[in-house]
Amino acid sequence: MNYLEEAKEIAKEAGALVMSRLGTGFATEEKSSRFDVVTEVDRASEELIRSRIREMAADHTFLGEEESFGSKDRFHIRLEQAQAEPNLWIVDPIDGTNNFVQGIPGFTISIAMACRGQVTIGVIYDPCREELFWAEAGKGAYLNGKPLRVSETASLGESVVATGFPSNPEARAAVMAGLQEVTLHCRTVRSLGSAALHLAYVAAGRLTAFWENGLNIWDTAAGALIVREAGGVCSDTRGNPFGLMTRDVFGSNGIVHQELLRCLK
Ligand code: IPD
Ligand code: CA
Ligand code: CA
Ligand code: CA
Repeated sequence: MNYLEEAKEIAKEAGALVMSRLGTGFATEEKSSRFDVVTEVDRASEELIRSRIREMAADHTFLGEEESFGSKDRFHIRLEQAQAEPNLWIVDPIDGTNNFVQGIPGFTISIAMACRGQVTIGVIYDPCREELFWAEAGKGAYLNGKPLRVSETASLGESVVATGFPSNPEARAAVMAGLQEVTLHCRTVRSLGSAALHLAYVAAGRLTAFWENGLNIWDTAAGALIVREAGGVCSDTRGNPFGLMTRDVFGSNGIVHQELLRCLK
């Protein structure tokens, strides 16, 4: 079974489902707080991805954002237990739910597979632009079949840097503190509303770098691999290596990594 090819097909199928519901009267509710929304389409997309993975490989482990773990703390306990699994699927059924709700382009389907704590496959699909980003460990990163390469931007002053605004209040405050510093030193800042899309854009050289505090592994597993396979660097915001438990994520073209780390520390 070629899991990468299967994951690409599943992401496109979920993308088509999500697009078919865009702008229709779907139900929306608040999850942990008013900053954290979910729609019935997030749940339907996750259910589709989960059932496709189960049909393909019934013995694989599945972790999706919308599973009823009760709380993010419980999810992280589950993730810690699942880290040693040889076939762990990590799924964000819609990354950028707020964009989807508002009808703003820039939401993605993110599917990753990890083997004993290392991400081996990453797929991100942007159904609005029909852009499919993918990577396999050691085999490079691609966009619709074309190899991806991070930008050659050599200094923070020439960099276009993205961030996001997490729902957790402490994480949001940490982003704001970093933003204050980064904005003073880089060319400009963007916030497109999907962490996975930001990482895919770093891999594609469209953005020089992206950081955000308080993310979850479903937001970043696929993107971190795609950045690395495109020649970039992914770490936490202190410079420690990226792992499944990393919450404060920082990906860049590698060249500006240290310079930007100094702003984020
Ligand atoms: C969110 C998006 C957003 C980021 C938030 C995430 P969701 O994911 O990635 O860009 O700023 O921190 O929670 O909830 O739309 O899947
Ligand atoms: Ca969410
Ligand atoms: Ca997400
Ligand atoms: Ca999501």
